[in-house]
Amino acid sequence: MPTDPFTELWEGKKISWKKLLTFLLFSFIFSFCLFASLRQFRTNEPEDYNSYLPTERSQTGSTCAPPKSERRLTILLWTWPFGHRFTFSNCSELFDTPDCHFTTNRSWSQKADAVIMHHRDVYGDGERLARLPRLPSQRWIWFNMESPSHSPNLGAMNHLFNLTMSYRRDSDIFTPYGELQLLSQPQPFSIPPKTKMVAWVVSNWRPGSHRVKYYEELKKHIPVDVYGRHHLPLSMDMLHQTVSQYNFYLAFENSQHEDYITEKLWRNALSSGTIPVVLGPPRENYEHFLPPDSFIHVDDFASAGELAQYLQELSRDTERYQRYFQWRKWLKPVLGIGWAMQVCRACHFLQRTEASYHVVPNLSKWFV
Ligand SMILES: *[C@@H]1O[C@H](CO)[C@@H](O)[C@H](O)[C@H]1NC(C)=O
Ligand SMILES: *[C@@H]1O[C@H](CO)[C@@H](O)[C@H](O)[C@H]1NC(C)=O
Ligand SMILES: *[C@@H]1O[C@H](CO)[C@@H](O)[C@H](O)[C@H]1NC(C)=O
Ligand SMILES: *[C@@H]1O[C@H](CO)[C@@H](O)[C@H](O)[C@H]1NC(C)=O
Repeated sequence: MPTDPFTELWEGKKISWKKLLTFLLFSFIFSFCLFASLRQFRTNEPEDYNSYLPTERSQTGSTCAPPKSERRLTILLWTWPFGHRFTFSNCSELFDTPDCHFTTNRSWSQKADAVIMHHRDVYGDGERLARLPRLPSQRWIWFNMESPSHSPNLGAMNHLFNLTMSYRRDSDIFTPYGELQLLSQPQPFSIPPKTKMVAWVVSNWRPGSHRVKYYEELKKHIPVDVYGRHHLPLSMDMLHQTVSQYNFYLAFENSQHEDYITEKLWRNALSSGTIPVVLGPPRENYEHFLPPDSFIHVDDFASAGELAQYLQELSRDTERYQRYFQWRKWLKPVLGIGWAMQVCRACHFLQRTEASYHVVPNLSKWFV
């Protein structure tokens, strides 16, 4: 089942703050390196948070590289992702980049600078795609936001693409489900009033799956309200209001893979002002995206019972509970989602890099 990540509702309004950030990053990078090796001495100063912030990535070469050209690039989107039509954005409004010309009209296929193919819409077409004529300079971009567990036939995509675009940090074009933004000045965060214990919103309920089994164990020890198909009804526009009343939110991923941290964390938990209890990749992986004291990981506990006990204690200890929100004085979670924004990330990337020869040889080996 595809998740429902990119509805118009969540299309982020990104401010062009990356320039400032790059500067800040370099100013702090040295102190951060020291800090990273001395993590136990962490304080709550803004520079301590740099590692969780998105950076201009190494993929783009030097962060100071000038734009490749002023020519307007044409990007052909091979299919609407999952058939979902959306309105292309003017990328210059989202990123510090010239606009690209986007089209889904395939008569551009011999003229486009790049072609974005969404895995779930093309995975059966490997052979046909391999036979298509293509311009020597044209770059094909493999795009996927689903986890490897929900990405069939990856082998058919080997030796076909020039660039990868996914939630994986080591993608050529990194398209995270969410990221943190540094506030220009510290701001107190007010925690929404809490009247309930634990919430979980789940649409793809698979009995016997790891997360359902964990939930079944957990609910023996602590009340958990489950929303979604087959459970308590919840409409999208009531999501934040509903979840914000809970002390904790189960941000349980449907499968465990490196960097696969989805809107369940960013949108459902963090944007609702609750503490995420995460089940997904290991804690170290989450800590590449978030401060360690912003979430609770199920792996931190020997059993669901022990986790439940910790949650009970925390909910009764206001001061300790509030500590999970201290980072919010400096950082704001923003949703990285919206198809229009993701394709603009490709536009941004292409404007900044030379079209040198590059092939993704074995996608199925990398995307696991
Ligand atoms: C993009 O810019 C053009 C020209 O300024 C404008 O006509 C168009 O409505 C804009 N599109 C969006 C989605 O904002
Ligand atoms: C696609 O582009 C071609 C060439 O520019 C044009 O003739 C055709 O009408 C376009 N098709 C659609 C559906 O817009
Ligand atoms: C893109 O990948 C294809 C298929 O592997 C390859 O033939 C082509 O030369 C590559 N193009 C560039 C610009 O790297
Ligand atoms: C890709 O990697 C997998 C796993 O190592 C291997 O089984 C397969 O043969 C490789 N395929 C190609 C085309 O290199």
